[in-house]
Amino acid sequence: MMTYSRSIPLALLALFGTGLAQTVDGSKFDKPDGGPPGSYFAAGSSIPVAALQSAAAKASTPVPDATYPINGDKGAKKVTIHSDWTKFDQGAAYVWIADMDVDCDGIDYKCKGNPDGQHQTNFGALAAYEVPFFVIPDRFGTKYAKQLPGNNVGAVICNGKMFYGIYGDSDGDTPQVIGEASWLMARTCFPNDDLNGNSGHGDVDVTYILFTGDDSVLPSSALNKNYVTNFTTLRSMGDKLMTALAKNLKLVDGGDGGSPTTTAGSNPTSGSCEWEGHCAGASCKDENDCSGHLVCKSGKCASD
Ligand SMILES: *[C@@H]1O[C@H](CO)[C@@H](O)[C@H](O)[C@H]1NC(C)=O
Repeated sequence: MMTYSRSIPLALLALFGTGLAQTVDGSKFDKPDGGPPGSYFAAGSSIPVAALQSAAAKASTPVPDATYPINGDKGAKKVTIHSDWTKFDQGAAYVWIADMDVDCDGIDYKCKGNPDGQHQTNFGALAAYEVPFFVIPDRFGTKYAKQLPGNNVGAVICNGKMFYGIYGDSDGDTPQVIGEASWLMARTCFPNDDLNGNSGHGDVDVTYILFTGDDSVLPSSALNKNYVTNFTTLRSMGDKLMTALAKNLKLVDGGDGGSPTTTAGSNPTSGSCEWEGHCAGASCKDENDCSGHLVCKSGKCASD
């Protein structure tokens, strides 16, 4: 009896609840134009994206031996990875600003415009159509492997929006280049540009923030060899780390989930729930900003 009363609502939830709890069978999203929607890995509305972008542009402490060209052309612009934000207890991160080439290594290596793809990514064989990942130069990943064990959560700010992803692959070309992300990430950032293996976003205007340490590694409960299986974990880790970083940079004033644009500071997130900072009472734009079954009513997460 227990079995029936519990399993029927869960089955209904599985059928109709896709916009709420983003646990997925990754293979269903493993298509060039059928990847997970950007809302599955977008930063929550409490994250001060514009302020983080300006702060990133001011980072100035170079990581030694971490300057790379953005492509293999002669005289290509060079970009340096910065360590200004690596000392924080929580939300420690490397930061750089680069272009965004498209990487399809892993099981989707045959993507459009990608004749030289590899079957594997550094920590598995990710699906570039399903996983928002970014790529770092191999020399950097190897030298800082202790800080970056692999699958670390990070974010890009592109086109004014912030999306979370993982450090899933490294670039071993000659020369090693910087500024690269998976097919899904690149096409979510720049949806109108038909980006592909042979056509990236060339402007050096994408901010990359890569969190360090074991605490920032997306766990195997949310990721397998090929796919992200739980986007709620990715977003909640991303929001938590990014909120900690923003607090350390004094871009937000205190309280959990506090909105940087609200000076009144009346943004209670008192309710506890699965997705910290997105519980009843937290600010929201739509239900994707709210935990579990909560909906967005008049700008606040609330039960239906
Ligand atoms: C998905 O991730 C969230 C947040 O980490 C977690 O609370 C939830 O239990 C996970 N769902 C499944 C089905 O594993």
